[in-house]
Amino acid sequence: MNPETLIIENENALTDLAARIAPLLKKGDVLTLHGDLGAGKTTFARALIRVLARKDDEEVPSPTFTLVQVYDFETFSVYHFDLYRLEEKENDILELGWDDARREGVCLVEWPERLGTLLPRDRLDIIINFHNNKEGMREIILHPYGAWENRLS
Ligand SMILES: Nc1ncnc2c1ncn2[C@@H]1O[C@H](COP(=O)(O)OP(=O)(O)OP(=O)(O)O)[C@@H](O)[C@H]1O
Ligand SMILES: [Mg+2]
Repeated sequence: MNPETLIIENENALTDLAARIAPLLKKGDVLTLHGDLGAGKTTFARALIRVLARKDDEEVPSPTFTLVQVYDFETFSVYHFDLYRLEEKENDILELGWDDARREGVCLVEWPERLGTLLPRDRLDIIINFHNNKEGMREIILHPYGAWENRLS
């Protein structure tokens, strides 16, 4: 499947996108979140976790300092990683509980460039770009790989 591009006008639109993706998720999934500083990676992860929690005000702090935050749901846990500070050191990523996360959870990964060889083939890349220099506008590209190609239709 080719990548799908969406232009959104504001942050609320992320909730619609999250609501579309949430029902597709199952244990073992990896969603990578690409985009410049402040593009909206954490904001998307927060929207998705809130949809899964069925709670608009679920607290979802950025994992900037903790590097990973874990949320337990009925059928899986969500591991929200922010690898910005790791400079592609696989051992550091493994120490954060990467293997457990892959087995038990759905991984949301900010700065997935750092994953190196840990980047799985089956995944959904979500790329968030600033758009038209307009405050709330973003271009969002959904790029499915491997098994994800049949799941996004
Ligand atoms: N359409 C939009 N989508 C996402 N965020 C938006 C949008 N419009 C405005 N924003 C704002 O842009 C900021 C995005 O910050 P966020 O922390 O999500 O970025 P990030 O990509 O995770 O950055 P970092 O690389 O520092 O982790 C927030 O302040 C959010 O309110
Ligand atoms: Mg972030």
